[in-house]
Amino acid sequence: MKIFLDTANLESIKKYNDMGLVDGITTNPSLLAKEKGNPAEIMREIVRMVNGPVSLEVVGTTAETMLEEAYRLKKYGKNVVVKIPMIAEGLKAVKKLKADGIETNVTLVFSANQAILAAKAGASYVSPFIGRLDDNGQDGMNLIREIVQIFKNYQFETNVLVASVRHPMHVVDAGKIGAHVVTLPADILGKMISHPLTDKGLSAFLSDWEKVKKENPNLVI
Ligand code: E4P
Repeated sequence: MKIFLDTANLESIKKYNDMGLVDGITTNPSLLAKEKGNPAEIMREIVRMVNGPVSLEVVGTTAETMLEEAYRLKKYGKNVVVKIPMIAEGLKAVKKLKADGIETNVTLVFSANQAILAAKAGASYVSPFIGRLDDNGQDGMNLIREIVQIFKNYQFETNVLVASVRHPMHVVDAGKIGAHVVTLPADILGKMISHPLTDKGLSAFLSDWEKVKKENPNLVI
């Protein structure tokens, strides 16, 4: 299972990149709006920092404007994946980008039918937003189950990228289902690292070691 960070925050990306935990990045206009500085420069910097796919989203709503933006974004680096909204014009853009050898991530997917169509248009990734479905009183993880099953049935090459993740159990469940990628806000990755029993256990080891050091003042390990 690949782990992407769902952020445009350079500090978070550096922090988790240094731990070898970042297989890729997803950004969107709302995430970029949270950061200070020139969004185009921030996107370029992310592309430079990360050794893996970086999804950068278009804001045009016609195939023509999406394609113009896509070709410009692709110049930021070889690892750019162009993020396209799941609308009819978006599918047209995905088909053309696929023909041009440019990878796409179809975003704002809320049904299995949308995922099928995005895959058929040639998307490299589909991004079902599970947290927003949960918020809407639907079972987001069930959508992942359906899409993974359908893609397996027909050997679709499109990756299922689980998006709008709200807590660490979403990651475990997505892994059990066999989704290819989860994209996580930095705080959820942080929560996955920690466990209270790890902290308690470490603190006991360290306090026992203090006793050992008192008895062996010159001890070095
Ligand atoms: C995915 O690519 C999106 O950026 C993201 O996961 C949306 O999550 P949200 O519902 O928490 O905004």
